[in-house]
Amino acid sequence: MFKIAIDGPAGAGKSTISKEIAKKLNIEYLDTGAMYRAVTLKAMRLGVNMEDDNAYGFLDGTDITFINGDIYLDGENVSKAIRSVEITNNVSTPSKIGCVRSYLVELQRKISESINVVMDGRDIGTVVLPNANLKIYLDASVECRALRRKKERDLAGVELSLEETIKEIEARDLKDSTRKINPLRKADDAIIVDSSDMTIEEVVNTIIKLAYERGFKKMSEKFVNGQNVQGYIIHVTPSYLKIELGEDALGIIYSNDILDVVDGHSLHEYYNVGEQFEAQVKSLSKDQKTGQPLYILSTKLEQERLAKEAKEAAAKARKEAKLAKFQALKEADEIISAKVSKVLKTGAFLSYEGHEVFLPVKQSEVSLEALSKLVGEELQVLVTFIDAEKAQIQVSQTLASRKTARLAKKAEFDALAEGQVVTATVTTLLPFGAILSFGSQTGLLHQSEIDHKQVRDVKQHLQVGQEVQAKIIKIEEGKISLSLRAMTRHPWEILCEQYHVGDVFEGTVEKIIPAGLIIKLTDEYSGLMPKGEYSWLLTDKLEEQVTEGSTLKVKVLDIDSKKKRVSLSRRATLENTWGDIKLNRNDIINVTIAAVDEKGAKVSYKNVTGYLPVGEVSATRRVGRVDEIYPVGTEVEALVLNCDPLRAKLLVSIKAIELNKERESFDKYMKQQDSETPVSTMADLFAGLNLFEEEASKKSKK
Ligand code: DC
Repeated sequence: MFKIAIDGPAGAGKSTISKEIAKKLNIEYLDTGAMYRAVTLKAMRLGVNMEDDNAYGFLDGTDITFINGDIYLDGENVSKAIRSVEITNNVSTPSKIGCVRSYLVELQRKISESINVVMDGRDIGTVVLPNANLKIYLDASVECRALRRKKERDLAGVELSLEETIKEIEARDLKDSTRKINPLRKADDAIIVDSSDMTIEEVVNTIIKLAYERGFKKMSEKFVNGQNVQGYIIHVTPSYLKIELGEDALGIIYSNDILDVVDGHSLHEYYNVGEQFEAQVKSLSKDQKTGQPLYILSTKLEQERLAKEAKEAAAKARKEAKLAKFQALKEADEIISAKVSKVLKTGAFLSYEGHEVFLPVKQSEVSLEALSKLVGEELQVLVTFIDAEKAQIQVSQTLASRKTARLAKKAEFDALAEGQVVTATVTTLLPFGAILSFGSQTGLLHQSEIDHKQVRDVKQHLQVGQEVQAKIIKIEEGKISLSLRAMTRHPWEILCEQYHVGDVFEGTVEKIIPAGLIIKLTDEYSGLMPKGEYSWLLTDKLEEQVTEGSTLKVKVLDIDSKKKRVSLSRRATLENTWGDIKLNRNDIINVTIAAVDEKGAKVSYKNVTGYLPVGEVSATRRVGRVDEIYPVGTEVEALVLNCDPLRAKLLVSIKAIELNKERESFDKYMKQQDSETPVSTMADLFAGLNLFEEEASKKSKK
């Protein structure tokens, strides 16, 4: 019998390589690691203290068998169960127990005794098969082995970082090589094959070449896999039949490979020795005792193939449906609600509509610890990554909550309207304004919108952190413009409500300027009273009568909203008695003597008062006082000598009327004479007139 022993550390590729060699050389493969794993599984299920040598009494009644490459523990196919992380983490313990090792070594020797076999493990070349035809010590660097393990795990959906995998492998190496009984050790005659930089094929070919060099001869095959064969039943047991397939060829068929045999029923119920039997070749093995080729048969191959195809098709359809579903969710950027099902070191598995998705801790809103308390809770997540090959889906809670916040912000924004008033906080001061925030929104307050008055330095008006009531004045292209100015009415508007054209009020003089007076109206505005509007009379001198701070009764003449100017007048509040007085020199008017003094008399004319000097009373009489001729109350005709309404001045004369009359009669007389005697000189003409005598005597008196 040809025996190949392959030992080496975990992750060196022993099982992959061994399986491949067995297939190519058509010999048996015995995975001894799987046997230690099976014992570990049973020990854990029984809950025994695995450190205790006496805990393994159960091995006595334990059945470990390999059927068609699968390992059976007490009749149960445990090929999958023994690959769990839990078993991997615990298998080192039973592996160092003496009774476990001797039990399994014994079993391994027995199984391999009469067959061509490739066996992998830790002590095959040193303990189990010390006389193996070929001993290989398969090694690889720790990093390389860790990478392989990680890939295997990734495929299985178990997340573990490379660093953690390296640590795990180093720990197992140490345990496997330092245990007291049968530690991992290279047999002296073993050939080292370092697989770090080799492909599987290269390693397999290297070992096969060595096997042939050591005298391996391939068993000749009579039948090929899948072939239909016929024979006679030569042996019936409850669980298998032995079939003779002609000379030198023996077949075996296990009950679970026979169609129509009901589970748990003995084959004795169905078959008898000598009956003809037809089946298909499943694989080629060797009789453990005789070393003869032993064909493993089945009548279920077609059914299994169909079932496998159907299973694969269903799995493919499920995978495609899953991918399509998540692809659509990803494209729609749709937030989904998924339930936390399991928390690992690197994140959590969540379930969504029966599918498992992975949430890496980095994409979670909470820590791993907090996540583990959320098992069974729903989380809002977004699909971020789809591995189509592995049909693995990655989700993010962080992106989902960002999206939710973004949507809420948008909804809040959409609900805003121009004219709305918001309570906002000043967050940033800018050279030309400030950024204000309210809710989840921000808006710009431009410098020109801070106050009705011109703002030169924003810092003088606002502080970071200050809370203000602001009005939204514009929403455009997603940007919000705010105003504080719009929160109050323009002072001009207020002024316009307070003052109207024609209003008379008591105003305070703010300032006297060459053009007139500045009169205070409101805190913001003042009005101008032009100098000419002070009085109807030029004689009323503003500079002499007004001081800054004094008050005046004034009237609003004009409110110019365009120029924001208010014109005021004082004289408009006063009666203009001289306003109607429009007299020219030499006009004859009726006046009444109002009061008499030494120099003349005050005369009234309409509403005003004029003056009649005593010298202007008569042309013919010498008068001392006016009332000598005209007592108070007398109405007389008088001639206007001078009328200046702007200075309230009216000077009248009665004398001038008399003189004018005399001159008229003289002129009349002269016109008569003109027609009778010619005039000689002007002196001759006036020689006879009293008027001139009187004038002359006045002058001589003075
Ligand atoms: O090859 P593996 O990882 O399936 O092996 C599982 C454990 O079993 C391994 O950590 C060491 C132990 N083992 C052993 O001690 N001797 C063997 N011949 C095979 C495996």
